[in-house]
Formats: sequence, structure tokens, C-alpha cells
Amino acid sequence: SRRSSEPDVRVLVVGSGIAGLIAAYRASQRHDVVLVTKAAAGEANTAYAQGGIAAALFPDDSAESHAADTLRAADGLADTEAVRVLTSEGPARVRELIELGVAFDRDRASGELARGHEAAHSARRVVHAGGDATGREIERALLSAVRASAVALHENTALAELILSEGRIVGAELLGPDGLIVEPADAVIVATGGAGRLFAHTTNPAVTTGDGVAAAWRAGAELTDVEFYQFHPTALAVPGTPLISEAVRGDGGVLLDEHGRRFMLDVHPDGELAPRDVVARGIAAAMARQNGRPVLLDATVLGADYLERRFPGLTATTRAHGFDWATEPIPVTPAAHYWMGGVRTDVDGRTSLPGLFCVGEAACTGVHGANRLASNSLLESLVFAERAAAALDVAWRPLAPLPRGEVRTVAPVAPPHASTPVGLSETQADPFERPESASESHADEIARIQSIMWDHVGLERSAESLEQAGRLLAAIPRDSAAPGDIAALEARNLAELATLIVDAARYREESRGAHFRRDHPAPDPAWQRRVSWIQRASHAS
Ligand code: SIN
Repeated sequence: SRRSSEPDVRVLVVGSGIAGLIAAYRASQRHDVVLVTKAAAGEANTAYAQGGIAAALFPDDSAESHAADTLRAADGLADTEAVRVLTSEGPARVRELIELGVAFDRDRASGELARGHEAAHSARRVVHAGGDATGREIERALLSAVRASAVALHENTALAELILSEGRIVGAELLGPDGLIVEPADAVIVATGGAGRLFAHTTNPAVTTGDGVAAAWRAGAELTDVEFYQFHPTALAVPGTPLISEAVRGDGGVLLDEHGRRFMLDVHPDGELAPRDVVARGIAAAMARQNGRPVLLDATVLGADYLERRFPGLTATTRAHGFDWATEPIPVTPAAHYWMGGVRTDVDGRTSLPGLFCVGEAACTGVHGANRLASNSLLESLVFAERAAAALDVAWRPLAPLPRGEVRTVAPVAPPHASTPVGLSETQADPFERPESASESHADEIARIQSIMWDHVGLERSAESLEQAGRLLAAIPRDSAAPGDIAALEARNLAELATLIVDAARYREESRGAHFRRDHPAPDPAWQRRVSWIQRASHAS
């Protein structure tokens, strides 16, 4: 229950994945909280998470060992303090999830939490639910906690613009079923997730268009590590590229080329369980050798009973596409999966703009560096959303300068769009109603961005491919009006983020983690630094 002695702080949380739900739920115990989300509340990337949550919960494991694995995967770019916070506070946060009603799978005989294994973890420390439906179970439990709380939840309401006044975020412009509304707030917590829809092939659902990152970018927030986009090695090679969890390889599934050879053993001593970027590029190279045809994931060794019990969702998905994975290998391909970069924050979710917090995939806490370790993303959301909710209670602290990094300031490319706070929430008639053909053309625009990004800014990049991507993106006509519907907003967000990623990928002339440059194929010690980007705010008042 809310304490009457607390100052009356009005908090706007945007996004209803694990990060937004935790932030809203915790903040609502002390403050007035409005939570908005672009689609139905359960339609968040979280709901699609399969593998689970990594945390040092078991006696034979330690936060230090989890931190060491996280730092190794991050390829020299992680923020060590943020990693320490992640791995040391993670176990308590996962136990609290259990208290909130998340039913993680347990060993049938002992009743202890079941332990999954994923690539580049030195211990079996991944807890999961419903076999391969971890995210869905977390989303279910947290949504029901939020619905039972004092949080005011509004679905079908997207973040259009953050509102800046005298250098502080004072609310947001939202695009809802009744058009644009202005929502004043003392603090805004952006938890809008990643931007998998930047790429033609992604494991992410349709909502992932980087709305919060783009709005923060336009408002002048510092964005960091944006060149690092993780491609998951194994998505089922069918339209929609559904994720095939790394846990399948963790349990013994192997990758074969079309001649039946286990090609990953030639690429890395850890074979199928090498770091995710290594496996993804190993698969891409094998696919290139067989004229782009997908490679095969052979899980038959696990047997029908085990597959059905441990991976019921994947058994259903593969079956729906006509495969019986208990008896035959299934075709897989890499697909865009997770954005390491985002709005730079400290370990309490504070961004470079007073009043603006960011948590979850939209944020760049620095825990993932150049490459995220499997099953660390739900954990990051949990740990830092909790901390951001607590940070609402203390005075704002400016973000310290990026350690071992540099800041680049660029001029806005997007046409300015003016916003002014108008007092208490009020619904306005939608002044920007468009004919249906506008949405269709936005869908075309998004499809063009996706193919440019997949072809030129994907698993492998080069100065040449990035220059071409920059040219092709600049040639897409931009709508200069304020977005009047979700498709227009998404197209604008994706176009702006794509342009930034191209610039950042072009700037980093080395290969590190998920960022692989054909023309600079090795890591360069001089580049063991992070790069932040700031766009001069286009609509600051
Ligand atoms: C998976 O189940 O392979 C995804 C886990 C993750 O991305 O962390």
C-alpha cells in the first residue's frame, strides 16, 4: 500500500514486457503509476522468451562465476560494475519472481528448480518454465500482479514523443485509440524493448520497433553500443523465423550441413555451444557454401518423449510446419534477436536526460558489452527495473561520463516535430488521420528498411556494404508530418534507428562480439572502447 508521507510522484511507464511490468508494479507501491503499451498487454517480446533466466541460484554456482561468463561473452566491452550488480542481485530477484507466482519447472524427483544449460555458461544455471515457455509464464504472472495493483494500465497506446521542458522530461505524447494525447509525468520509465523489426528475419514479434529508443534519441538522450545487434543462431527456416531455443543445443542438439557434417567443430572448440555470434556466423558461412540453403539442427538424439516434455512449445511449432523433430533434423537459419545497444543508463536506470529512466532491452546498462550471454536479458530487466523503481524515491543524479568511451554528437536527420505539454491528460481528436494507402506505404517502407538492414548491416558488414546501406536508407522518402497512426510512427522510428546503426557500424573499424566487419575481421585493442551518440534534440523547448 502507498505511504501517505511520500511525495506525490506521477510515473509513466511505457512497455509491458518483464521490465515495464516490474518497474510499474514496484513503483506503484509508492507512487501514482500509469502503464501504457502499444498492443495488448501480453504481446511483449518477453512472452516469446524460451530458454529461461540465468542466475547463480545453486550451491555449486556463484555470482562471480556468472559475472566471469558474462564478461567473457561481452568481448571486452561490458561495464564491470553493472555486471557485478546483475549477477549479485539476480538470484534474489528470481526468488521474488517465484513469490510473485512464476511457476518455474522443477525436477520431478527432488522438487528442486530444474536447471537448463546454454552456450558459454560454465554452470547449469538457467531456470525455465513450461519447458520452453518461460517468457509466457513470467508475462502471465506479472500481468496478473499488475492488474491486481494500483497501476492504471492502458493498452493500444504507443509512445510517440517524449516531452522536454527546460532540460527535463516532463511527460510524453502518446498515440492511442483516440489519437494523440499528452500525458504529463514527473518521471518516465521507457521499457519498450528492442527493434528486431529492423531486419528482414527476426525472432521478435511485430511490436519490436524500438519506439522508446527512437523517442529518447529524438529528445536528445545518449544512446550507446548501437552497432551491436545479436543474431540468434537458430530460428526455424520458415516464414516468421520462430526461435529454436539454444537450450536444444545445450541439451545435445547438433548442427549439420546439408551433407550431414557437424561443421561447427571446425569453427570453434566448443562447437554448437560456442558464443552465440560465433555460432551464428558459422551457420551463415555454412549456408553460403550451400547456396543459402538452411543448415540442419539435429535433436533426434534427445528422443520423442524428452522433446515433448522439455520443449512442448517447440514440438508444436515444428509440427505445425510439417516437421517431426524427434525423427528428422529441422532446417534453421540465424535471425536478428537482441539489441545490446540502447539508451545509456547507470545501474539505476537513469539516462542522460533528467526525469527519463530506461530499463530492459531498450536500455544499454553495459552488462552485455558487444555480445549478450544467453538468458541474461530477462535477468537484466528484472534487476534494473527494480532498481529504477527504487531510484524514483531519491533525488535525480546526473549520468556519469561513459568510462572508456567517447561521445559523438550528430545533427537531427528527421524533420522537427513540435510538442508542448498541455497540462492534464486530455484526449484530442486525431488531427493526422490518413487514408489506408498511407499505412500500406509505411508497410512498404518498413519492408525496404528490413531488407537493406538484413543484406548490408546484418551478420557481416563492411565499409562498402554500410555505405550502400546509408545511401539506400537516405533514398527512402520520409514523411515529414507527425505520425498519425502506429504504422507511420513505427516506420519513422525504424528509419531513424537504422540510420544511426549504420553510422555506428561504419564508425567502428574492427570486429568485436556481434559486430563483424569483413574489411576489419579482427578485434583492435584501440577499439576497446564504447561509443555514445547524441542527436541534438529536435523539439526541445
Ligand atoms: C534461447 O532460448 O535460445 C534464447 C535465450 C536468450 O536469447 O537469452
